[in-house]
Amino acid sequence: MVKSNQIFICTSCGHESPKWLGICPGCKEWNSFVEEEKKSNKTKSHKAKIPGLELEQTPTPLTLNNISAKETSRFQTGIAELDRVLGGGCMRGSYILIGGAPGVGKSTLTLQIAKSEPYLSILYCAGEESVMQIKQRAKRIGIISEKLLLINETRIEAIIEQAHKLQPDLLIVDSIQTVYRDELSSMPGSVAQIKECAALLQQLAKKSSLSIMIIGHITKEGDIAGPRVLEHMVDTVLSFEGDDYYTYRMLRSIKNRFGPAHEVGVFEMKQDGLDQVPNPSAFFLAERNKEMSGSAIGCIMEGSRPMLIELQALVSPSAYGTPQRTVTGMDRNRVLLLLAVLEKRTGFKFSDKDVYVNVAGGLKIKDPSADLALCIALISSLLDMSIDNNKLWLGEVGLGGELRRVNQLERRIKEAEKLGFAHAWINNNHDSKNSPSHLKDVLQSFVQKKP
Ligand SMILES: Nc1ncnc2c1ncn2[C@@H]1O[C@H](COP(=O)(O)OP(=O)(O)OP(=O)(O)O)[C@@H](O)[C@H]1O
Ligand SMILES: [Mg+2]
Repeated sequence: MVKSNQIFICTSCGHESPKWLGICPGCKEWNSFVEEEKKSNKTKSHKAKIPGLELEQTPTPLTLNNISAKETSRFQTGIAELDRVLGGGCMRGSYILIGGAPGVGKSTLTLQIAKSEPYLSILYCAGEESVMQIKQRAKRIGIISEKLLLINETRIEAIIEQAHKLQPDLLIVDSIQTVYRDELSSMPGSVAQIKECAALLQQLAKKSSLSIMIIGHITKEGDIAGPRVLEHMVDTVLSFEGDDYYTYRMLRSIKNRFGPAHEVGVFEMKQDGLDQVPNPSAFFLAERNKEMSGSAIGCIMEGSRPMLIELQALVSPSAYGTPQRTVTGMDRNRVLLLLAVLEKRTGFKFSDKDVYVNVAGGLKIKDPSADLALCIALISSLLDMSIDNNKLWLGEVGLGGELRRVNQLERRIKEAEKLGFAHAWINNNHDSKNSPSHLKDVLQSFVQKKP
């Protein structure tokens, strides 16, 4: 039975309903309603009372020339990989959400700004850890900044009051799921609390030109916990990703109002904090065995950054009736499709073979330009012949076995040259009629070269 003080809220768009609904009438999302306590009527009338967020008279419209340069300036966080993901530094007055799995290093990354840029005044509001715990982390990563201020506070009113009083360059809230507003009766972390607190911080950022970074938890599915509207409220959404078995971490911009989206920064988690990896290609190819069969090098684009990757395949006779297909690091269906194309269009048989595919280093890739490199790795393992290890393979494979050109070719080739690759296979049949443009031709020339 629905109680009178209960309400159901869509976590995706914030639509409210007095009863639970399977599909949201607003955004058509399934299973998105969660139960919440109704907001008390007092809430709205109290909004103006938070110091720093007092209601001002109706603002006067300004021409572009009348807007001060300070409001559109950036400052550097000192962490080059973070600055690049933010679009060239942190915009003053910007509102940034950093989401990531438990323990991936969100608090370390944000705290580390105080190490790399000690002149930046930072107010760090810790809701999850005590200031003692943060001091220990700061000691471990070597922070000596006098301009870093820590506070154990989760009441949003107090956080805003302190930020208004201290006027730091950067306010860090760790995490948005732990802060709450007194006037709301629901628990911290509920949709209503997250929405309310995030909206108040948004007002603060825009009013005072204060940059705010909020840390957000993620759900089991990998989405940022709380209402979807949170991602609309902020200017930038960064996702911090890592793998339990590897020390590298990737910071990816999912949305950015002040720079290109899908930009990637790469870090390595170490004893003394996060180390930047300025050359990820060298990092991911470091342990490569050049003589091994079943390995080929491709180049994917992560935002504007080319990254060389090693695709590994192991093809062995199938011991059971149904051959196994095990894939790590890329879409399994894509691998099945490429195996079908290889069988049908080039005549190599995999139907009685087990196939294992791996992207070395624990990377997860989506770029179809790695198709050709994977096909080469598969054939190399099938024939048990190592391939020209000084060559980069670039091309998307179509269902007819035709090879498509990949975008941003020059950047990819430059990256390969930097790492000492002498040749690249690319589909340049638009420039020269003699170049092969079919998978069969590439594989034949490759097989012919080998004894
Ligand atoms: N002494 C250490 N040496 C190496 N790595 C460490 C050390 N101490 C902590 N770490 C790394 O730091 C990670 C925790 O970092 P951090 O607390 O910043 O993560 P978080 O994303 O903020 O986690 P949470 O979601 O719990 O707040 C650990 O998972 C571990 O990888
Ligand atoms: Mg943390």
